Amino acid sequence: DTVDWDPEETGKSGYDHYMLKEIHEQPRSLRQCLSERVDELAGTVDIDDLADLNPRGVQFVACGTSYHAALYGAELFQQAGIPAQAFLASEYASSPPPIGDALVIGVTQSGETADTLSALREADRRGARTLGVTNVVGSTVARECDHVFYIRAGPEIGVAATKTFASQLAALNLLALGMAGGDDTRELIGALRDLPGQVQEVLDESGARAVAETYLESDAYFFIGRGLNFPVALEGALKMKEITYKHAEGFAAGELKHGPLALVTDQTPVFAVVTGDGEQARKTIGNVKEVEARDAPVIAVTDGQSDVERYADHVLRVPETHPRTAAVLANVQLQLVSYHTAAELGRSIDKPRNLAKSVTVE
Ligand code: AGP
Repeated sequence: DTVDWDPEETGKSGYDHYMLKEIHEQPRSLRQCLSERVDELAGTVDIDDLADLNPRGVQFVACGTSYHAALYGAELFQQAGIPAQAFLASEYASSPPPIGDALVIGVTQSGETADTLSALREADRRGARTLGVTNVVGSTVARECDHVFYIRAGPEIGVAATKTFASQLAALNLLALGMAGGDDTRELIGALRDLPGQVQEVLDESGARAVAETYLESDAYFFIGRGLNFPVALEGALKMKEITYKHAEGFAAGELKHGPLALVTDQTPVFAVVTGDGEQARKTIGNVKEVEARDAPVIAVTDGQSDVERYADHVLRVPETHPRTAAVLANVQLQLVSYHTAAELGRSIDKPRNLAKSVTVE
């Protein structure tokens, strides 16, 4: 007797799509990323000889989702007092900024993205030290850079990056801690340790599917966030565009009133990523009130520390954590909203039209 089986279907381990499987793999891939790199008792991280790089400045180059991770990474280094900036690799390659003695970090899941490779090669030509943060062992970026740091997310088949984004954020935390230190290293290490379990909680309890179903007919979706939640807003919108083919935009919350607010109506769901209860949360809530006044439906992605829920039509809760790791949890909720929207619409989720997993042309 023979059994018919399709290797592609088998690879999905019972999930309808690779994307959903990979979203659910995040607790595991995060554990792999952190494994043997954090010493909780000592309150230290181990990033081998990268700890000696001692950068006086950092320039990140990356594309797409990896660029969003790079924006997040730049903020981490800035917080540690090291000047850092994230550049779109395609822009950097054609018009590179003065490098000085900056360390140039290429963030790339595949390690094969042509724009990122060009930017890193340009940095190398100008005498910069280069570091590749990648998922693929032996990839071109891993081979060509002076240094490499693997995010260890495991293979990602879905064109939409999911688990690799989470692992990039975790890896960038390790790099920032290892190279630049920080005031609350122990708290952050504890938060990183708890992160896989908290991602699992979000996966188990998420109300994202109901939210996706509620707004299935919408033609446009907005995502807003501040600080470390700004890259999460951009990433939420990119995921929505890629797999649902719907118009979606991510904004730094404060920019809404400088133009995009004109587009907001009662037909524009606004996903507001608000974690913590500090100044940034307070200001973003102010922006939430602005869209609420235009009758836009508001979906708050929040840890419940602020009162944003008072102004929201729906709430997607995430567990409380360190301000840095909150971005990972909020992003999981947005991944699920995009996934369920695309699934309901019957889209080609793992292979969206016009897109390739690895873009090897400039
Ligand atoms: C993410 O969902 C996209 N598929 C895309 O933006 C991707 O992140 C980008 O092409 C960069 O790829 P890389 O990380 O392999 O360099």
